[in-house]
Amino acid sequence: MASTLFRTKKVEQSILDTEEPEHALRKSLSSLDLTVFGVGVIIGTGIFVLTGAAAKNTAGPAVSLAFVAAGVVCALAALCYAEFASTVPVAGSAYTFSYASLGELPAWIIGWDLVLELALGTAVVAVGWSGYIHSLLDNAGWQLPAVLSGRDTNPGFGFDILAAALVLVLTAILVLGMKLSARVTSVVVAIKVAVVLVVIIAGAFFINSSNYHPFIPKSQPVAAGGNLKAPLIQLMFGWAPSNFGVMGIFTAASVVFFAFIGFDVVATAAEETRNPQRDVPRGILGSLIICTALYVAVSIVVTGMQKYSALSVDAPLADAFKATGHPWYAGLISFGAAIGLTTVCMILLLGQSRIFFAMSRDGLLPRFFSHTHPRFRTPYRPTILLGVVIAVVAGFTSLSELAELVNIGTLFAFIVVAISVIILRRTRPDLPRSFRTPMVPFLPILSVLASLWLMLNLPAETWLRFAIWMVIGFVVYFLYSRSHSRLGRNEETTVEEVTHPNGNTP
Ligand code: ALA
Repeated sequence: MASTLFRTKKVEQSILDTEEPEHALRKSLSSLDLTVFGVGVIIGTGIFVLTGAAAKNTAGPAVSLAFVAAGVVCALAALCYAEFASTVPVAGSAYTFSYASLGELPAWIIGWDLVLELALGTAVVAVGWSGYIHSLLDNAGWQLPAVLSGRDTNPGFGFDILAAALVLVLTAILVLGMKLSARVTSVVVAIKVAVVLVVIIAGAFFINSSNYHPFIPKSQPVAAGGNLKAPLIQLMFGWAPSNFGVMGIFTAASVVFFAFIGFDVVATAAEETRNPQRDVPRGILGSLIICTALYVAVSIVVTGMQKYSALSVDAPLADAFKATGHPWYAGLISFGAAIGLTTVCMILLLGQSRIFFAMSRDGLLPRFFSHTHPRFRTPYRPTILLGVVIAVVAGFTSLSELAELVNIGTLFAFIVVAISVIILRRTRPDLPRSFRTPMVPFLPILSVLASLWLMLNLPAETWLRFAIWMVIGFVVYFLYSRSHSRLGRNEETTVEEVTHPNGNTP
């Protein structure tokens, strides 16, 4: 049994599968498209919304160091992702990579985990987007009924109609085809980056250097009773839960990590790239470097404009301009943020439908979902199914409940990818790799430790929720996927052919 759990899919087979006409995606993306995709999905709720809470509650002005810490963790993971993406250029990201190296069960676990990350990530961003639209509507003097404004606004029953509508519209765009979405994405990404640059350049003129003191506020104990909400690392070592101080920087890093999610999604589009060996590593590393530089600059500027304790939690970038007496800039930033979050949502949605698609093509999820549309050549069935589910989740859930769960899932995927790099170097040294991770195994091991460190800084209750999702995944695997796996069926056929040479074989 152990051997079937760890059966691996040959890398050549993975590439061959993508060439079957009815399961093939169109190859149309270049490295520039991928970088635009990357920046399009990376800059979003993380920098526009979470910066405020992270500075105010856990790190103070040192939130910029939290961005550096999270950026380093991502850069290490990106170097591992880039090697895998250039070796196994097929849809599915870390899922596909681990199927080719670690085996079927680990691949299932990672695929299941990625669907969680991307689906909930889409919901988080849709709710953030709806918040900015609400604030723009407010400026114009309009308001939606509270019951249609979501859980964050309405403590009782609330359905966030704007968030749900956004997800459904984007689903329809994705079903119509990659090219359309890539073109829309480039325009929107340009607007978003322009707004971020406005924050950095205009904001620099309003910095008051006294706001940087203290740069790392003194550690403060958290009120008793918040144990499940405390970072796991503090509970493990029996420390009293606390905020700020040096540990606060890491707590903040484990939250603002959300701002970097997305560079891994670039790898999920490998199969749709014209020259994946060269373009995927360029797309991943390029978009990550651009975003890290922008985040550090934005967080330094914003914490210089306003005292960290006064930062707003809902729209910190826009509100910092209001606080310094420049509401015009605030309106512009809210508008850009609302537009920018649209692409983030769309690309996360794209990434998860591709993973679902790859898993169903392998038979681990029903094969019904792996047929591409005859005309648009997009995986329309999983896109529609997941789009509708996410629209409902986005309508009914609150932003803060989900973001940390998304982070833990992503960090877990980073760990699996880094381990896979080491294993695949040993088991398939012969495969051509246009990008090679430097210093193997040292760098991948460092990547595992760094990701684990951020995971340990997440709240205990997040670990609990993540464990529940994974247990459900195991049940589905053993009840359905193991017996329906295409790889398993091929193996059975081969064994039969050998045992009954006079059977059906010609
Ligand atoms: N990195 C993306 C964001 O911050 C997911 O919204």
